[in-house]
Amino acid sequence: MSALNTSARIAVIGAGAMGAGIAQVAAQAGHPVLLLDNRPGAAAQAIEGIDRQLGKRVENGKLSADSRSATIARLQAVEAIEALADCDLIIEAIVENLEVKRALFRQLEGICSAHCILASNTSSLSITSIAAQLEHPQRLLGLHFFNPAPVMALVEIVSGLASDPALAECLYDTAKAWGKKPVHTRSTPGFIVNRVARPFYAESLRLLQEGAADCPTLDALMREAGGFAMGAFELTDLIGHDVNYAVTCSVFDAYYQDTRFQPSLIQKELVDGGRLGRKSGQGFYAYAQGAERPQAAEISSAATVDVCAVEGDLGFAQGLLGRLQEQGVEVLQRDGRGLLRVGDAVLALSDGRMACQRAREDGLRNLILLDLAFDYAKAQRIAISHAAGIDPLALEQGVALLQRAGLKVSLLSDSPALAVLRTVAMLANEAADALLQGVASAADIDLGMRAGVNYPQGPLAWADAVGLPHILSTLDNLQAAYGEERYRPSLLLRRRVAEGRNFHD
Ligand code: NAI
Repeated sequence: MSALNTSARIAVIGAGAMGAGIAQVAAQAGHPVLLLDNRPGAAAQAIEGIDRQLGKRVENGKLSADSRSATIARLQAVEAIEALADCDLIIEAIVENLEVKRALFRQLEGICSAHCILASNTSSLSITSIAAQLEHPQRLLGLHFFNPAPVMALVEIVSGLASDPALAECLYDTAKAWGKKPVHTRSTPGFIVNRVARPFYAESLRLLQEGAADCPTLDALMREAGGFAMGAFELTDLIGHDVNYAVTCSVFDAYYQDTRFQPSLIQKELVDGGRLGRKSGQGFYAYAQGAERPQAAEISSAATVDVCAVEGDLGFAQGLLGRLQEQGVEVLQRDGRGLLRVGDAVLALSDGRMACQRAREDGLRNLILLDLAFDYAKAQRIAISHAAGIDPLALEQGVALLQRAGLKVSLLSDSPALAVLRTVAMLANEAADALLQGVASAADIDLGMRAGVNYPQGPLAWADAVGLPHILSTLDNLQAAYGEERYRPSLLLRRRVAEGRNFHD
C-alpha cells in the first residue's frame, strides 16, 4: 500500500502542542486537515498560532507567502466530532490517559467510515491496549511524532498486536511523503527512542550522584568528547524534569522495575523541589536573568613533552596519534597491548575497569585512563581518571601530552568506564536488547536515535565502530565493579561478539 494521496482527508484531535504541529505538517504536505479539540475555540486558536508561526517564516524568507496562505486554507477548525465522518486518517493527540483515548476511539468507530485509519500520537501508552476494545483493532496504529512536530524529522510508526501491517506500511510511506523520517516499531514501552535514550540521562545522573564530576563538566564531556548536541543536565533542564522523570518512571515500571531504567533520586529531588529546569527558572542550572553558567572543570600541565611511544594499537583511540604528530610530537611505535607511554605515565583507553583495578591487575604504574571520544581526531575535550597514589609528575606528563594534541582535559574520580564510554556502552546495550526483542530493525533503531534525539551516531553503528568486544568487556567490567544487574550485557551483544559479527553485518 502506498502513501495516502494529498486528497485524503486528515483529522487531528487535540489542538495542543503536538496536535497543532501535526496538523501543520499534514496541511503543508497538501492534505485538507480538520482540527478538533474539546475546549471550545481551541482548534481555531491553534490555527491562528500556526498562521503566526508561518508568518515568521515568511518574514525570514524561509517560506513563500503563497505557501503560507495555501497551508492555512487547508486547515479547518471543527467543533463536533461528527464532522470527521468522511476522513481517511484520524490522528489523536489528546491527553495521555488510556481510558480517555479508548473512549475517543470507540466513539470514532461509530462515526467514521470502515476504511478510515486511526492513529494515536501517544508516547507512553500501549497501542495494543488502546485498540483492544475496538470492533476493528487492526486499523489502529501509533503515529508518534516528536516535539516540535514541524521541526523534528522522526516519526515512529507503532504496531500493536492487532495492527494491520499494510496500514503500517501506508503510514510509513505517508510520513515519508510528508518529509519525515519514519521508522517501524512494535508497541513496547518507550517504543524505540524513549527506551533506548534512558541511559543517556541515567549514566550522567549516576556519575553526578557519585561525585565523579559536576554538571558543567559532565555536560561539556558529552558535547565536546561525545559529539552530542547537549549534555544530560542541560538537556533535562530544557525538557523539564517533571516530564523527563515521568518518562523514566513510566519506562521503569513498564519493564517491571528493571534496574537498567532506575530513576534517579537526584532528579526526583529537583521535581519535589519544583526545580523543573528552564521553565521554572532553576534546574541543575539557574536561568534567572544574569545567572552565570558554571564552567567545566579542566586540569592543565606545564610539563614539556615532545615524544611518546605507542605499544600496539590504541584501538578506537588511534586518531589521537595523528593529532599528536601534527603538533610535532614524535610518536614511536612498539609492539604491545594498546598503551601510550609518555615519561613515567602510561595512558590507555578505558575498558570499564577502574584505574586502581586495572593498574593492579595489569601491573601498570602511573596508569591514566582515557574516556571514549566520538572522533579522537576532532574532539575538543577528553576525560581522564587515575588511581590514588599516581606520581604527580607522571600525571603532569600525561596531561601535557593530551594538551599537545589540543585537548582540554577533565579529571573524573576513578569511575568505571568514565563518562562517554559508559554512556555509549549502555545506549548500545539497550539498543541491542531492543533489536534482540524484535522491537525494530538495527537500521530503524539507529535512525530513530539520530533523527529523534539528534545523536551524532546510532548506538548500534557506534558500537560497531568502537568494536563490539570492547563494548562487551566494558559492560562486563561495569557489572563486576558495581555488582549490579543494571550493567548486564545484552545476550545479542555477547552473541555477536562470539560470532565475530557486528550489529550491522
Ligand atoms: P497538550 O496538553 O498540549 O494538548 C492536548 C490537547 O487535547 C488539549 O488542547 C486538550 O484540550 C485536548 N483534549 C484533551 N482531551 C480531549 C478529548 N477527549 N477530545 C478532544 N480534545 C481533547 O498535550 P500535548 O503535549 O500536545 O500531547 C498530546 C499527546 O501527544 C499525548 O498523548 C502525549 O503523550 C503525546 N506526545 C507529546 C509530546 C510532547 O513532547 N508534548 C511528544 C510526543 C507525543
